[in-house]
Amino acid sequence: MGGRIADKVCVVTGAGSGIGRATAIRLAEEGGRVLCADIDFASATETARLAGTIGGVASAREVDVSDPRAVDAMIADAVERFGRLDVLVNNAGVNIPGVLHEVTDEVIDRTLAVNVKGQIYGCRAAIPHMLAGGGGSIINISSVNGIVSEPYLAVYSASKGASVMLTKGVALDYAKRGIRCNVICPGWVDTPINYAHAEMLGGLAHVYETIDSFQPIGRPGEPREIAHVVLFLASDEASFMTGSIVPVDGGMTSQ
Ligand SMILES: NC(=O)c1ccc[n+]([C@@H]2O[C@H](COP(=O)([O-])OP(=O)(O)OC[C@H]3O[C@@H](n4cnc5c(N)ncnc54)[C@H](O)[C@@H]3O)[C@@H](O)[C@H]2O)c1
Repeated sequence: MGGRIADKVCVVTGAGSGIGRATAIRLAEEGGRVLCADIDFASATETARLAGTIGGVASAREVDVSDPRAVDAMIADAVERFGRLDVLVNNAGVNIPGVLHEVTDEVIDRTLAVNVKGQIYGCRAAIPHMLAGGGGSIINISSVNGIVSEPYLAVYSASKGASVMLTKGVALDYAKRGIRCNVICPGWVDTPINYAHAEMLGGLAHVYETIDSFQPIGRPGEPREIAHVVLFLASDEASFMTGSIVPVDGGMTSQ
């Protein structure tokens, strides 16, 4: 156990899997008190249990980030349990790939509701508590697809571009009031969110055999490699960073 964010109260959405789970555990390892929130309560509960096994302080709750009242309740719950709010990681997301002229209304609505509105609702709910506490750090999880696109990801890319611009807007509005807001743009990380996209590209095995064609480091990222960067942005070590777009992508956007 370290103390890089000792006693900071953190909320992580999408904490039941992949990058969100790794982030919740990494924050807890460094002294954060973490509310692990996910639409899948059982998986969020498992993340909180895993954080507890390494001596961290974490609890779980269910949230659908596309529901504004549920997001308000999630933030209120964190403040009630832990007394304040210092860090929000807007990580929950969906990726439903498709050929654009065949994409359904439901896919468009769900993608924007979770990936865009979910992050807006999170910021809106968190900011009053951060202002009351003298400041805070918001980390939005976008994607390399907030910077460059890929086949079959037009709607997802649109949503991730919005996350980048949301970040800049929040950063500007609260720069003088102690709230920093930054966005991480991960490359291809080994989690279930990519499986449908991988199928459209010829299967996960094929994607991984040919990964150096688009991700120069030549391998998928691990969720913990994103979590380390979230931790840094959450901590006071990043005190001069706000409005920054941080690719963590094995070189993908360098091409
Ligand atoms: N894995 C990658 O390669 C990659 C790359 C770039 C960006 N990202 C982004 O990272 C974030 C995390 O993705 P991941 O790779 O860990 O995927 P994942 O599928 O492993 O985890 C996503 C989590 O979000 C939860 N979730 C989905 N909809 C939700 C909702 N409405 N409310 C609350 N929780 C919800 C899921 O239950 C799941 O636990 C996403 O925003 C994703 O777009 C991932």
